[in-house]
Amino acid sequence: MSSPPNTANTRPQSPAAICASALLEEGGSGFRFELDWRGGRAAAFVIRHQGRVHAYLNRCGHVPVELDWQPGEFFDPSRLYLVCATHGALYDPATGNCLGGRCDGRGLVVLPIEERDGHIYLIEEI
Ligand code: FES
Repeated sequence: MSSPPNTANTRPQSPAAICASALLEEGGSGFRFELDWRGGRAAAFVIRHQGRVHAYLNRCGHVPVELDWQPGEFFDPSRLYLVCATHGALYDPATGNCLGGRCDGRGLVVLPIEERDGHIYLIEEI
């Protein structure tokens, strides 16, 4: 019998489990995590938007810096868009597409995830 993933705001026991679904409120704080990425480790995050969860590398399309303006805070004040804290680029939470600003058409890198059994899982490391 396998152990259930952690529900705390820490690295989960299962390498594929990111966090508990209950941690992600609609348009609320995101959950930061790391994954293997092109031979190294990369920062990433997962958020909930319009009832669905979405995960992206935590890397702006303008300059490869992390987006959050406070740890885990990715949404703009309207809670409709993701915003880069550095220069204010706006992204679509559902697709990661650049909607305006210095991202200049360069969207976020989408990560494959699924939500099941009360948890969010990375389907595969890229
Ligand atoms: S680094 Fe994100 S908009 Fe410039």
